[in-house]
Amino acid sequence: MNSIVNISANVQHYLSLEEKYGAHNYHPLPVVLNRGEGVFLYDVDGKRYYDFLSGYSAVNQGHCHPRIIASLVEQAQKLTLTSRAFHSNLLGEYEKFITNYFGYDKVLPMNTGVEAVETAIKLARHWGYKVKGIDQNMAKIIVCSENFHGRTTGVISFSSDPVATNDFGPFITGYEKIPFNDLPALEKALQDKNVCGFLFEPIQGEAGVVVPDEGYYKGIRILCDEYNVLMMADEIQTGLARTGRMLACDHENVRPDILILGKALSGGVLPVSAVLSDDAVMMTIKPGEHGSTYGGNPLACAVAITALQVLKDENLSANAEAMGKLLRSELEKLDSPFIDKVRGRGLLNAIVIKHTNPDAAWELCLALKENGLLAKPTHGDKIRFAPPLVITKEQVMECVRIIEKSLSTL
Ligand SMILES: Cc1ncc(COP(=O)(O)O)c(C=O)c1O
Repeated sequence: MNSIVNISANVQHYLSLEEKYGAHNYHPLPVVLNRGEGVFLYDVDGKRYYDFLSGYSAVNQGHCHPRIIASLVEQAQKLTLTSRAFHSNLLGEYEKFITNYFGYDKVLPMNTGVEAVETAIKLARHWGYKVKGIDQNMAKIIVCSENFHGRTTGVISFSSDPVATNDFGPFITGYEKIPFNDLPALEKALQDKNVCGFLFEPIQGEAGVVVPDEGYYKGIRILCDEYNVLMMADEIQTGLARTGRMLACDHENVRPDILILGKALSGGVLPVSAVLSDDAVMMTIKPGEHGSTYGGNPLACAVAITALQVLKDENLSANAEAMGKLLRSELEKLDSPFIDKVRGRGLLNAIVIKHTNPDAAWELCLALKENGLLAKPTHGDKIRFAPPLVITKEQVMECVRIIEKSLSTL
């Protein structure tokens, strides 16, 4: 292994600032970026890179999409925040737009992804007590092992990752973990009458892009209906065209009861998340029971409408589907001894690295960086390949050449 990391004095300056003044809660690649355009990122020395992470799927529409930025700038000059103490001229318009777009009665707007997950949990519990008739404080939500739904103390309470949980307890109860992609385990867990919801990622992104068997979403839908439990799909990473459909659940024409969105809802411009549901669930929430100062702010509303419009106008689901197929088949063709598996759907993909060196995936990402492509390992040996959905065929082919060249350094 002989990957050489070139770090200029300019780059070192920025790395040192973060090292000295920032909390060390991340372990980034040593690259310092100051510009983005479409599928490309540029570092402070002017070097260009393909972005194969897309801000963990927040930048589906490509960096600094001109229409999204125009909406941002235009609205920023008029009104950015009212809080929900008052109405704005954009909130209702956005609510109408997004509920029609996804086919739900109502939306509850939030900011970050984890806030939307927390919101969905609160909604499911409310529904469990007020509609299903579960006894107070007995409501239970079924989740999957190896899940990733965010970082609050509430959400890490049902994480199976010791790095996310060690020394952060005590944790919130009321969750039961079952294996992902295991319908019999789900059916068994649903026997408990206190279960109000099943929260899952359609594809487990952070776990290394784990794609379930065909029929999993349909099976969940059938079981949730049979046992009167809410199907809660966290599509924060898989939604918004990333997997080749508007939602990953669309692959099996399944409609969750609670749909959780974030990330690309703003095209990577600012934190915008949302929970969508029908009245039977959403109308259980009364004024004062839940909220957020920035949730549904006019700037977010304007940006989200355009970000969603761009996904449709530019046919990004279809492009993600086609480019994903091309990327996976070209990666398979490399037939590298260091690639154990290529997997994914649409443009949410990962390779699993096979190497005697446990740091091989990290080393490969350093080599990729040197060769002009940015990607990041997850869980040690997996590297996510998830470029912006605007990537072209020629660009995919160039990226495969970069990956091939970088693999040869291992
Ligand atoms: C599936 C899923 N849910 C929730 C989150 C949390 O989103 P945020 O980091 O915006 O809080 C993420 C972030 O990666 C995610 O991938």
